[in-house]
Parts: sequence; C-alpha cells; structure tokens
Amino acid sequence: MVHYSAILLGSFGLSTAMAQSYKIAKSYVGQGFADDFDFYTKDDPTGGYVNYLSRADATSKGLLSYDSSTFTMAVDAQNVASGRGRDSVRISSKDRFNDGIYILDLAHMPVGCGTWPAYWTTTEHHWPNGGEIDILEGANGLPAENSTAWSATANLKSPSSGFPPNADTSSLHTRPGCSLVSSTQTGMIKTTSCDSKINNNAGCGIQYSNATTASIGLQLNQQNGGWYAMWRDVQGSGGIYMWFWARNDATVPQEVKDGSFAGDISAASWGVPAANFTIPDCKKDFNDHVIVFNIALCGDYTAASYSAAGCPGSCASFVLGNPLAFADAYFKLNALRVFTANGQIASKAGPEGLATGALAGIIVAAVIVVLGVIGAFLWRLRRKRRAAATARALAPRAMNDLSTSSVVSTTDSDKDEGGYPVGVLLPGETPTRSKAPGARDPRRGSASANTKKGSKASKKGYAAAATNESGHRAKQNVPAAPANPAFAFSNNQTKDKFRPGWAV
Ligand SMILES: *[C@@H]1O[C@H](CO)[C@@H](O)[C@H](O)[C@H]1NC(C)=O
Ligand SMILES: *[C@@H]1O[C@H](CO)[C@@H](O)[C@H](O)[C@H]1NC(C)=O
Ligand SMILES: *[C@@H]1O[C@H](CO)[C@@H](O)[C@H](O)[C@H]1NC(C)=O
Repeated sequence: MVHYSAILLGSFGLSTAMAQSYKIAKSYVGQGFADDFDFYTKDDPTGGYVNYLSRADATSKGLLSYDSSTFTMAVDAQNVASGRGRDSVRISSKDRFNDGIYILDLAHMPVGCGTWPAYWTTTEHHWPNGGEIDILEGANGLPAENSTAWSATANLKSPSSGFPPNADTSSLHTRPGCSLVSSTQTGMIKTTSCDSKINNNAGCGIQYSNATTASIGLQLNQQNGGWYAMWRDVQGSGGIYMWFWARNDATVPQEVKDGSFAGDISAASWGVPAANFTIPDCKKDFNDHVIVFNIALCGDYTAASYSAAGCPGSCASFVLGNPLAFADAYFKLNALRVFTANGQIASKAGPEGLATGALAGIIVAAVIVVLGVIGAFLWRLRRKRRAAATARALAPRAMNDLSTSSVVSTTDSDKDEGGYPVGVLLPGETPTRSKAPGARDPRRGSASANTKKGSKASKKGYAAAATNESGHRAKQNVPAAPANPAFAFSNNQTKDKFRPGWAV
C-alpha cells in the first residue's frame, strides 16, 4: 500500500507512519459464518425467553440461510413460542482474535419489541478477566411503521422518552481497575469505568454521534446498514477504536467497503473514530476473544427498557404470543474480516476449561508420566536387587533348592523397597481415572453460564460478577428497571445505568 502511505504521510503527518498495518487473518462470508462459528444451544445466560438452536435445527426451521455473499440468522416469526422460549440463534467464532482490525459489513440488524441483538467479542473463560467488547448492541428497537412487525405489535405506544436512539453505544467490560482516559472521537463518553462490578456492569460506554447517520436500529436498516470497523490496539497504543460508515456514506474507505479486500490494512486514514476507548492501563485486561452474534429475547437488559420503548404488556408474554412481531428480528451479514499483525488467528476457541480444566489435565498427565518413570526406575531397581539377593541366597545352596523364594522375600533389601505407592502407574498401565480432567463438554460459544460454569466461577472466586462468564450478566445484579434506561442517557446524564449489567 505504498500509494496509501504516501498520501497519508502527506496529509496526516507523522502519526500515520506509526499506525500499524495488518494482514488478513480470517474472512467470513456467506456459509463461512455457519461453518466457522459454533452454535450455542444452552439456556440463555441472561435470563431471556429464548431458545437458541443448533445449526441443524435453525436451518430446518428456516432461521438460518446463506448464499455466496450474505448470511442471515433470524428469530422465529411464525410460531407461538413454548418451552424455554422463542427460537433464535447465537453463534460464536471457532477462532479467537486479539489485537487487529475487525470489519463488519452489516446489512440488517434485528429490531422489534423484546429483541436484544448484539455483535461483540469476549474472553471465553473467567469473565470478566480477559474482557468483553460490545461493538453493536440494541434493545427493543422499534420496527418500521406499518411493517408486518409493527402491525403485529398491537398496542405499541410512543416511547415514553423520545424515539429510541439511532446512535449505537459500544462498551467495554473488564475486571476492576480499567477506565477510559480522555480521548478524541466524534462520539460521547457515557461512562468511564469499564469495571463490570460497578454500575451494574454498565461498563465504559461511548455513544456514537448520530448527527449525520444512524448506526443502530430501524434507521440503520432503512439505509441498508453499513460498516463497523474496530481497531483493537490494546497492547500497542493502549486503545480500542471504532468507526462506523453508513451504506450510502461516500467517505467509507475502499478497503473497508470492499468485503473482499484482503491486502494490508491500517486505520491510519480513517479519521477521528466514532468511539475512542483509550485505556493505557488495561493491557492485562483483554485476552484472546471469540466473536459473537446473538439475538436474545427479553433478558434483563431488554426488560429494563421494554416499557419505556413503548412495547406492550410484559416482555415474555409478548415474545411468546406474537410471532409476526419478529418479522424484522434478523441479522443479515455481508462480510466480517479480521486482520492481525501476522495474518494469523490468536488461538482456537477451546473446549470449556482449556485455561484451567485442560491445564489441570495436562499437569495431572505430566505427574502420571513422571510417577510412571519413577515407578519404572524403582521396578528395575527392585528387579536388580532381587536378582542380587537371589544370587546371594543361592550362592551357598544347591541350584534346585526350593527355599530360595522365601529366603529372598525376607531379605532386608526387599523390605527396604517396600513397594510403590498404590496407584502409581507403571509403564504400559492405563490410568483408571474415572474422568479425564479436560473432558467436560466442549463449550462452544463464548458464553455459557450454565450451572456448572457458574459454580466453577464461584469457586474460583469470581462470584462477585456473579456466576457469569464471558459476558453473562448476573441476574442478581439487575436493578429495578430505571425509568428509561436505554434511551434516556442523552437527556439525563445521571442515567448511566442504562446497561444494567449487560455483558452479552
Ligand atoms: C401507516 O398507515 C397509516 C394508516 O393507513 C397511514 O396514515 C400512515 O401514513 C402510514 N405510515 C407510513 C410510514 O407509511
Ligand atoms: C441523537 O443524539 C442526541 C444526543 O445524543 C439525542 O438527544 C437524540 O435523541 C438522538 N436522536 C436520535 C434520533 O437518536
Ligand atoms: C484517541 O484519543 C487519543 C487522545 O486524544 C488520541 O491521542 C488518539 O490519536 C486517538 N486515537 C485515534 C485512533 O484517533
């Protein structure tokens, strides 16, 4: 990109020379989203009324589709729901990424009462250690007037505090000690502490400017979406920077716009970011992340703004009984590309507990091997001593003296050996442990907050953020719903709790 550099150096000066350049590590388009993401099927960790489907089930129910250039994942908009909730989809990348440039070309995001869609990245285990980055997150986005979803939303009232925002708010969630410092951006800092344990896990949030263009919700869809670009540079400049360009924005950089661009890329020419999370003190708070797309229904974050958005009745009963109201509750993705310094992924998303369970397994296995080697050594030593003792015992006797063995068994040398500790494996023996330490269910998806994980988290001392990992809000952290938490912050700066503990 010589020509870029030349232009940039000319127009922006020294800083451009310092902006790092990245190589394509992964490109997801069409079927690639289905193949290279795992489908999360456990109970919703956020207490929602949603039934996340496997790939096979989502496909057979028509909630998953793709062609050569688009990928769509949707909420069921045909049936009255039952069981644990309305059918939906939650996927998380099989690869993990760290610093780099992430570009999503999004064509449509879910809207509708009760919906809580998000595009985010998160540590897989021990959340909030390792961090979470919410890039796009909506709640109760209203459908277009007179659309199928609108008409099916009987008794939709005017939102009690103005129209839902058309400006996305991105946020970070970390362990204690990470805060934003002042930064240059077109957006607005809403909350500065990223600590998930305070402000009900509001995290540190920056709302994009909506001056020129919608970056979330109905209006985003009406303009056929746009591009979200994140430059995650935590280890370098100590920041995470986000840009948004609407579909019709003439200034979108060509390498962002072109979903097949796979050359070297840098953010040097992208101008002032919409959100500039400058976090120089947080280098240890972000590790390798999976990328997640999900459409939750109800759940605590959604509930907190449900009525204020004008949505009717109670969220769960609405979601249960009004399938047509979910006609616009789908993500349509054109392309997601991740560029990294070396053009490689950071790591593979692992089975649950890779960081601890598998590590414990590896340690146990190593101990078994070491004990086995010691055992083999002792065994050989014993045989040598036995042979020596036998030779001594036999020496004064005739070769056919049958008392040999009893003599041998009572020699001092044999007593000294004693025998190995029971359970130590000898070479060739197979461990009889009932369960390999790493053999838990592979957790696909970043964020199971099932009971097992919950209890594990508690044991490990992460109970304060509650039982959640990888971005699960703790239900007990949910406050009484503020008057209009999701929509009021621009009017009332005290309502920083617009994100009551959301982390998914
Ligand atoms: C919705 O329908 C009503 C009644 O037909 C009509 O008055 C209104 O203009 C429509 N709104 C839009 C945005 O088309
Ligand atoms: C745009 O942002 C301003 C300031 O944050 C807010 O008051 C207004 O409601 C927003 N408008 C829309 C349509 O979201
Ligand atoms: C973010 O803000 C800081 C502080 O103003 C600034 O130095 C930095 O250049 C900004 N980052 C980007 C990518 O614009």
